[in-house]
Amino acid sequence: MTLQHVTDALKSAKHVVVMTGAGVSAESGIPTFRDALEGYWSKYDPAELATPEAFQRDPELVSRWYDERRMKVLACDPNPGHFALAAMEAHVTDNGGTFTLLTQNVDGLHVRSGSQNVVEVHGSLTTWRCTVTGEEFTDMPTPLESYPTPTDEGLLRPGVVWFGEALPMKALQAAGEALSQCEVYLAIGTSGVVFPAAGFVSDAKAAGAKTFELNLQKTPMTSYFDTFVEGKSGEVLPEIASQWFGYSS
Ligand code: OAD
Repeated sequence: MTLQHVTDALKSAKHVVVMTGAGVSAESGIPTFRDALEGYWSKYDPAELATPEAFQRDPELVSRWYDERRMKVLACDPNPGHFALAAMEAHVTDNGGTFTLLTQNVDGLHVRSGSQNVVEVHGSLTTWRCTVTGEEFTDMPTPLESYPTPTDEGLLRPGVVWFGEALPMKALQAAGEALSQCEVYLAIGTSGVVFPAAGFVSDAKAAGAKTFELNLQKTPMTSYFDTFVEGKSGEVLPEIASQWFGYSS
């Protein structure tokens, strides 16, 4: 019944915005951000490692944590939820609409599964950046040869957004533009506790969009959405795509 609700809204929408969080990658074997850390890292709180202060205090530790996450992610594959989203984008754009995929995930799995219009609002694990010049480096050796690697003037830091840092201006602008014209907004697999991403639903509503939240469980943001859909993204998204345009994985 609720899925029919989502499918009907998508069928009549020309401009769609999806926002994803760590839950979308859970079925690829990547622990969600708030899952307890394992092994050596179990003594750390991820929210305390993901800060400029932690990097300042111990750049080697923080870089090593991100580098290990990068290696773990490179060993994982996109799951049926990622592929269904890529197929949805192709369907919408083939029919003259726009489909914007905003993601808080830094794992790059949306791009690897074929999504084109992806806005990585929290940056990416595969990019490293000089703390002084801002120059970005991709194609870094795996693992990094040393932690952290000195550049000419500064230190190499992970190209992700940390707690207390602003989102990249380009990403914010792209998100703002897409949200201002969206007709359907779907937030998937995110705990809805990190702003500004958690607040994008308000921008979508202000634009008149129908809003849906897909998650294993309700979140602090659930009451802001028109409809809550309970389920695993890797199962529900292919089902929505199938009902919408006959998608089969
Ligand atoms: P979290 O780890 O906080 O939340 C993951 C959400 O996904 C939870 O609400 C789960 O219930 C849900 N979930 C888990 N498995 C799922 C599945 N198979 N299908 C659907 N939902 C599922 O991750 P995020 O909300 O993405 O930011 O975290 C947001 C941001 O907080 C991260 O980008 C990171 C962190 O601080 C920064 O590092 C700046």
